Amino acid sequence: MIGVFDSGSGGLTILNALKKQLPNQKFLYLGDHGHAPYGHRSNEQIVALTRLGVDHLMHEGCSLVILACNTAAAIALRTLQQEWLPTEHPEKRVLGVLVPMVEAITNVPWAQQSPASHPEDNKQNKQRVLLFATSKTIESGAYVEEIAKRAPHVELVQKACPGLVDAIEGGAGTAPLQGLINGYISELDMYGIETAVLGCTHFPLVEKLFKAALPDTVKLYSQADIVASSLKNYLERHPEFISADTPSTTLLTSGDPRIVDRVSKRLGVNEQSFIMYQ
Ligand code: DGL
Repeated sequence: MIGVFDSGSGGLTILNALKKQLPNQKFLYLGDHGHAPYGHRSNEQIVALTRLGVDHLMHEGCSLVILACNTAAAIALRTLQQEWLPTEHPEKRVLGVLVPMVEAITNVPWAQQSPASHPEDNKQNKQRVLLFATSKTIESGAYVEEIAKRAPHVELVQKACPGLVDAIEGGAGTAPLQGLINGYISELDMYGIETAVLGCTHFPLVEKLFKAALPDTVKLYSQADIVASSLKNYLERHPEFISADTPSTTLLTSGDPRIVDRVSKRLGVNEQSFIMYQ
């Protein structure tokens, strides 16, 4: 069984794409709604909460867990992979959403880093890519660092979107959400920007509002499709993680299932009810 973890409802955008590309798999989703958003928490809290969630998914029978949360992946993934998994669940794996995104943005496979100097690495040829994410993901520097190693000609223009995850989780209406998004974009210098990344799994839930605020010429990467293709490729290389169980999807939450259900259904992202987990 494949586990999918997020601080709340955002990871459902990844789950939907996974279900489409891997229709024969069994999925268990865990939204830590009781502690969302992670963007306001300390790194220590994010690591501890992510570890608890992943541990729960693994005890429920997941052999592979996707951190469908950029914030958790940026802050906690490395610690979990290096310091926790080898002793607690040595035969299991945790993967994140940053690696497939960095590969897609740079066009360079993760294992293969570019040389320090790149022929296109000069001011005139800089390719400007816009990244919208939580303040925590941006402060971590993870995207900038990994992109710079592989594609120095890519200039990442980062824009933190404080309050957006809270507004989405809180079930805010279209007008206030659009107001927030317009505000972030109005502060940006859009010169030379042709592509943008919604680097928080909650943001595709309001993708239409981002599109409405951005110039028509800006193309959005689909993190969900990119992550799903990457997982499909991973499973082809690691068939031991393919589940033989009957395909199904179960949703768990640490929050109030009734509220979460209401928000998620309104967003049109889940067809099944959340079950409480403690
Ligand atoms: N969906 C999470 C992400 O991708 C939101 C983080 C939060 O809870 O602040 O970053």
